[in-house]
Amino acid sequence: MRIPRHIAIIMDGNGRWAASRGLPRVAGHRAGVEALKRVVRACGTLGVRYLTVYAFSTENWRRPRPEVDALMRLLVEALRREVAGLSAQGVRVNSIGEAEGLPPLARRELERAQAVTAGNPGLMLNLAINYGGRRELARAARLLAARVRAGELEPEEVDEAAMAGALYTAGQPDPELLIRSSGENRLSNFLLWQAAYSELWISPVLWPDFREEHLLQAVREFNARERRFGGLKDHPADGRA
Ligand code: FPP
Repeated sequence: MRIPRHIAIIMDGNGRWAASRGLPRVAGHRAGVEALKRVVRACGTLGVRYLTVYAFSTENWRRPRPEVDALMRLLVEALRREVAGLSAQGVRVNSIGEAEGLPPLARRELERAQAVTAGNPGLMLNLAINYGGRRELARAARLLAARVRAGELEPEEVDEAAMAGALYTAGQPDPELLIRSSGENRLSNFLLWQAAYSELWISPVLWPDFREEHLLQAVREFNARERRFGGLKDHPADGRA
C-alpha cells in the first residue's frame, strides 16, 4: 500500500459530538485532542512524514468568547501535557498560521513545543492555528513583493515555486490526501494552494470518534484512486507546460 507522505485533516464535528451527549462544546474539543493523539500515533506507525491539522481558523474568532477562551486554554494544556510524549515518538511540532495574533500564553507554549521538538526525526506535525488559506496567500504575496522592492527578485521570477516557498509550508511536499471528518464537503479556507491536487476524503464520523481504522480506510481509498494530475493514464507527459 502506498502511504501518502503528507496528510491534511479538517477535524470537524467536535461540537456536534458534545451536543449529542448533552455535554458542553468544550468537552467535544477535549475529546478531539484525544482523537488527534490517536491519529498522530497511527501516522507515525504508518510512516507518514507530514500531518497538517486545522486546529483553529482565522474565522474561529467569531465564536462566542467563552468557546474561544476554552480552545486557547485547551491548546496550552494539551501542549504542556503532550510535548514530552510526542517527542518520545520522534514528532516535530510546527505551527502554521499567524502566531502573533494568539494570546501570549498560547504563543509561548507553541514556541516552546517547537523548540523542544525541533531536532526530532519523525513525523512533522503542522498545527494550523489562527490559520487561513487566503491570509497565507496574501502574506506570501507580501513577502515576495518586499523582496522585489529590495531588488532581490525580479517580478518575472514570481512563479509557482516562488509562491510555494513563501508559504508556511515552504520546503514540505503538498498533501496528497485531505481528510475532513463529520460529513461537510468544504475546504473552509484550509491549505488553498497546497491542496490543489489533494485527494479529498470526507468521512461521516465526528472527529472525537475518529480512530486509526478510519485513517486506514482513507489511505486504502486513496490507493484505489487514480491520480493523474490533469494528464492521461498510460500516456507519457510529453506535452509542453
Ligand atoms: C471543529 O469542530 C473543530 C475545531 C474548531 C477545533 C479543533 C480543535 C481540536 C481538535 C483540539 C484543539 C487542538 C489542539 C492542537 C490542542 P466544531 O466545533 O466546528 O464542531 P461542529 O461543527 O460540530 O460544531
